[in-house]
Amino acid sequence: MHSEAHIVTALANYGWCVVPGFLPEAETAAIRAECMQAHAAGTFHAAGTGRGQAQVRSEVRGDHVLWLDDTNTGPALHELLDQFESLRQAVNQELFLGLFDLETHFAVYPPGAGYQRHLDRFRDDDRRSLTVILYLNEPDWREEDGGQLQFWPDPEAAPLEIQPAGGTLVTFLSDRFWHEVLPANRQRLSLTGWFRRR
Ligand code: OGA
Ligand code: MN
Repeated sequence: MHSEAHIVTALANYGWCVVPGFLPEAETAAIRAECMQAHAAGTFHAAGTGRGQAQVRSEVRGDHVLWLDDTNTGPALHELLDQFESLRQAVNQELFLGLFDLETHFAVYPPGAGYQRHLDRFRDDDRRSLTVILYLNEPDWREEDGGQLQFWPDPEAAPLEIQPAGGTLVTFLSDRFWHEVLPANRQRLSLTGWFRRR
């Protein structure tokens, strides 16, 4: 797949990559529907911070998440996870990261919720190595809706502002890049995953 080779090259050169339109709207909509169905069924809970999501501090992060496993993964998401598995193998071949498995959750940010500036690797558990974020928002998401991902390629310089457009994939080395989710004025949806080494 063309975008897979592009991602691997960008990760090797810069450690991060943004691919608008990684997933076509039809596939994005199908995963969005699975996310919304699970959300409507009340299966999400307030996200925590730190390893094991030990503390819930909504001023730090205000999203609700559903951790995904074999029992709650629908067919549309399953196809995406197959693509992520192919990406895992390509990254391992080129970058020798030793990525072993992938943990994922859906995240729903209610209006006004954000996630303060952070790194994805925990202080007491360094297995998270590569972050993947796929936005699941409706195609009519506008800049005024907010919810941008602020991303610091260089912690000393101004951040990039990435629009959470449905189908956009963001991926980066988990221990290296500070990032922050700005509050949106409408519900903001994503699938987030972390490839881990052993
Ligand atoms: C996270 C995260 C960013 C986003 O879940 O750790 O930083 O844009 N998400 O959803
Ligand atoms: Mn993060």
